[in-house]
Amino acid sequence: MTDVIDKPATSPISTSRHGDVLIVKSNNPPVNALGAAVRQGLVAAIEEAESDEGVKAVVIACEGQTFFAGADITEFGKPPVMPWLPTVVDTIENCSKPVVAAIHGTALGGGLEVALGCHYRVAVPSAKLGVPEVKLGLLPGAGGTQRLPRVAGVPKALEMATTGKMITAKEACGVGLIDRQIEGDLIPHAVAYAEEVRDIRPLPKSSERDEKLAEARDNPGLFDEFRKANGRKFRGFEAPEANIQCIEAAVSKPFSEGVIVERTKFMELLGGTQAKAQQYFFFSERKAAKIEGVGEDVKPREIKKVGVIGAGTMGGGISMNFLSAGIPVTIYEMNQEALDRGTGIMRKNYEATAAKGRVTAEQVEQAMGLLNPTLDFEVLADCDLIIEAVFEQMEIKKDIFTRLDQIVKQGAILASNTSYLNIDEIAAVTSRPQDVVGLHFFSPANVMKLLEVVRGAKTAGDVEIVQRTLYTMVNEGAKILEEGMAQRASDIDVVWVYGYGWPVYRGGPMFWADTEGLQKIVDGLRAQEQRMGSDFSFSHMLLDKAEKGEKFTR
Ligand code: 3HC
Repeated sequence: MTDVIDKPATSPISTSRHGDVLIVKSNNPPVNALGAAVRQGLVAAIEEAESDEGVKAVVIACEGQTFFAGADITEFGKPPVMPWLPTVVDTIENCSKPVVAAIHGTALGGGLEVALGCHYRVAVPSAKLGVPEVKLGLLPGAGGTQRLPRVAGVPKALEMATTGKMITAKEACGVGLIDRQIEGDLIPHAVAYAEEVRDIRPLPKSSERDEKLAEARDNPGLFDEFRKANGRKFRGFEAPEANIQCIEAAVSKPFSEGVIVERTKFMELLGGTQAKAQQYFFFSERKAAKIEGVGEDVKPREIKKVGVIGAGTMGGGISMNFLSAGIPVTIYEMNQEALDRGTGIMRKNYEATAAKGRVTAEQVEQAMGLLNPTLDFEVLADCDLIIEAVFEQMEIKKDIFTRLDQIVKQGAILASNTSYLNIDEIAAVTSRPQDVVGLHFFSPANVMKLLEVVRGAKTAGDVEIVQRTLYTMVNEGAKILEEGMAQRASDIDVVWVYGYGWPVYRGGPMFWADTEGLQKIVDGLRAQEQRMGSDFSFSHMLLDKAEKGEKFTR
């Protein structure tokens, strides 16, 4: 029935019995990714259920923070290890005894595909479900594009597969993706549910359902309407269209043919540059949060109250970040008019978001209720974090930090939103330079995800990434690395994607340079060297790597 049936000695999958229900549990931290050992263990567990006459039903659950969060992305591009995930899902679906998925945390990608292979799905109310493959330049490749529309309906499947957004357990229940929400302990309730359904035959198989596809067949214009409505959002990306085509195949072809379309398109995407760029970016984003010299034992300081100096565009946006996260903000301005204008704009921004249905009127009031506008500088004294967001003038900033040093409690973080001034020079006017940091928010600060954290100690203030051409941008990126201004090439890419709208499907300028080939960049720059004049100089790192045939990011 399957390629591999032996369960390795140290399998992350364990089985136990509760009456006539076999409980299959995965323990593969941090996110129960469906790596080879998990896949092998799942198949072996289903074999165990089949071969033991005493087993009448199966529950599949996960330990730790989440249900399976997807295929193991680190395995992509490596030689495949059997069994493949589609085989695992088929094995579960073809089990002659009912299989119940017990979901907590996030059932994502291959994880949701495993759940769709199960005959029933139950979940705790906090669970979230999704197929985020599109964000990795991919599509659900283990039958997900075929089973999801059959279970949740075509419009929901199109939305989930092309946006990659998660839905809540409640919404999943509403569209039929979850059979029951479980209040209380998940596994005992899932076992009870398995006992309830143990004798129902035929077993409900997602791949055999048709009623929701029939609805879509009655509305043949559905796919083109969807493409038209989302054309702008999908422009440049390959994966959304591939997802749409697979769901179209689910409607127009039998399951056995639909999965072939899915496999073909999955392999095409997997081999392409966009998927590589987007997977590279997934890991880069996570790496960027790890700072050299800051170990995991370092506990972040607690921020219960934030102060913001300046109620202009940046100060307002920065304040909204914290208000939206439920953290009270004291915002300081020098005169009433500027203060009123700033807080008025914040309210207008929130109300505009509410008008689009993204937050409720109640949430707007909650956020604004946490704002304390003041003309009194001393009110900032008990804040845990104070962010200065005034003009980019060194003398003004030094004056503010001198005053802050006199009034603010010890242990508070004093931050400047400067984009280029020297943090050490600002810190030097205080008696606590160790507490001074640069927090460079990107405008609009309440929307942009990127926050550059600039640690002090000899940060050169005048370095800027030059934007003349892509090649000079790469050269500058290499210099930034050479000078130790950025820890890794991937951090530079994260800045460009989140701060300046670089398309994620190209990974960032440093990833893009690797894709182009560094020697090509060097040759291109040499050709332009004269035109660029005396300001231009080559990065030694770029020249060196190009000569050795090395890359920045891989
Ligand atoms: N494979 C391998 N590693 C993964 C992973 C995955 N699918 N998902 C997360 N990780 C790793 C992260 O890189 C990170 O590693 P690190 O600690 O060494 O940096 C660690 O797990 C924890 O991840 P996060 O820091 O992101 O933890 P959070 O708690 O913030 O978020 C999460 C958890 C929501 C599960 C988030 O990690 C996530 O969105 N993961 C990706 C989910 C995904 O894209 N799944 C689809 C995979 S593709 C697929 O399934 C193809 C199939 O259709 C064939």
